[in-house]
Amino acid sequence: MGPRSPLTRFSLFGLLAIVVPAAIVAVLGYVSLRQWASSAELLFREQARDMAAMAAEKVEMLLRHAEEEFLARLETELASGVRAAALDDLVTQAPLVDRLYLFDRAGELLYPASWTGEDGRIFARLLAEVSQGFWERGGRRDLIAGDQVVLATVLKSRGGAPVLAAFSLNVEALRREILEQTLGGGESSTIIAVVDHLGRPVYSRQPLERAERIAAVGFRGGLPTWRVALYQPPGVSPRESVRRQVMVFTVALAVLIVVIGAGIVTTYRLMRRETEMARLKSDFVANVSHDLKTPLSVIRMFGETLEMGRVTDAAARQEYYRVIMRESERLSRLIDNVLDFSRIEGGGRRYDMVPTPLEPLIRETVDAFAYPLAQQGFKVEVRVAPDLPEVNVDAEAIGQALGNLVDNAIKYSGERKSLAVEARRLDGRIAISVADEGIGIPDPEQGKIFEKFYRAGRSDTQGRRGSGVGLALVRHVVEAHGGRVTVESRPGAGSRFTLWLPVG
Ligand SMILES: Nc1ncnc2c1ncn2[C@@H]1O[C@H](COP(=O)(O)OP(=O)(O)O)[C@@H](O)[C@H]1O
Ligand SMILES: [Mg+2]
Repeated sequence: MGPRSPLTRFSLFGLLAIVVPAAIVAVLGYVSLRQWASSAELLFREQARDMAAMAAEKVEMLLRHAEEEFLARLETELASGVRAAALDDLVTQAPLVDRLYLFDRAGELLYPASWTGEDGRIFARLLAEVSQGFWERGGRRDLIAGDQVVLATVLKSRGGAPVLAAFSLNVEALRREILEQTLGGGESSTIIAVVDHLGRPVYSRQPLERAERIAAVGFRGGLPTWRVALYQPPGVSPRESVRRQVMVFTVALAVLIVVIGAGIVTTYRLMRRETEMARLKSDFVANVSHDLKTPLSVIRMFGETLEMGRVTDAAARQEYYRVIMRESERLSRLIDNVLDFSRIEGGGRRYDMVPTPLEPLIRETVDAFAYPLAQQGFKVEVRVAPDLPEVNVDAEAIGQALGNLVDNAIKYSGERKSLAVEARRLDGRIAISVADEGIGIPDPEQGKIFEKFYRAGRSDTQGRRGSGVGLALVRHVVEAHGGRVTVESRPGAGSRFTLWLPVG
């Protein structure tokens, strides 16, 4: 096959017209999916951050409100001086306030009477941080002491003396009264949590194991070391779903490409079969025409010779008539073969099954080839078992099939010219075999020679004319009789074709 054969062109076409666009679509699809994934991720993060900021604001507002309420009550109380018992009551009534300390301008502890635990050191350091300006200006400050936050503010006591109030928050109460209130409600797949300065959760709506943090926003005031963080439970994060979609897309694309590939391969195979069939058909036409021409020209030549009246010898004339007869018989055989073949192809061949004695049918068929057999010096042997029963067959069709086998045996013989036709019962069936000692058929071709138009070993067979439909016809005929045809052959040694027919 040349480099510009239709098949090569088809492969190139398939590559350019299908594979290249498919690849472009694949690449574009992948790139846009990637972009979409990253912008979705960005948007999602922004949303999460907004949500966290809103939550933080809410918490701060509530906290500020509670603190101010407490400070207002404290200020009212201080108007009547520092009275320890009343202050104790005040602290007990405000669950958010853990420990309250009051100092005078000189830094002396006014309330309570003594320090609790480590507080002495912590608050002393705080006191040192409080500047002169703060005492005068007032206002409030969040001071960080270790892992807790202390709120400090200057209040007026009885007589207008400034008092520094510092208190720490009760984390338990904070969690219960404020975080739970603000962050607890709502049904959403995202988990809102509050984490401390080390990232440990202080509060979270749902368990956080294996959840993925997607955003964290710090509080501006009130809880300076803590942050609101948003988590996504495992498996539901949008990143996961994007990843899933990318997977689905990739798999779909791969399937698409495989389907396209399979389509190309199938089309390629089909086209190769069609091309092969077209070649076989054109060979068939050339072969049949040539086959018809030879007997026709013989008939014409002998007819003309007779017509001119030149042959005076009666015996010679007789011989000429016989040649014309023989050649026209051969011509009918050829035409019958082609016509029957096309009738079979069209599904229109009918078989007329009648109980038939096989011996006369076989002998008649071989006799029809008596002239070429004798002329080419064939050693002919016909052996029919005497006890053969009559078989239900279409005599004409079986004769035609057998004739094809004999014709092939003659045509495909080499130096050793031998024909053996044998009919016997074997394994409960009738076996009619036609054997020669001719050129034989190579193993890989033996399965193909029964296909229409197929002619084996091209260079070997080429010298001998034929249509390639003979064995296709033989196979069809025996199969229509419920039998089958087999071949045993060795190149150079000869071939044996056997028709197997069922008995009764
Ligand atoms: N007896 C045989 N010996 C060797 N080759 C054979 C024989 N019979 C058939 N073949 C091979 O099988 C092919 C198909 O046979 P057939 O269908 O009768 O077509 P044709 O004889 O017209 O070529 C032949 O072309 C030949 O190659
Ligand atoms: Mg043939």
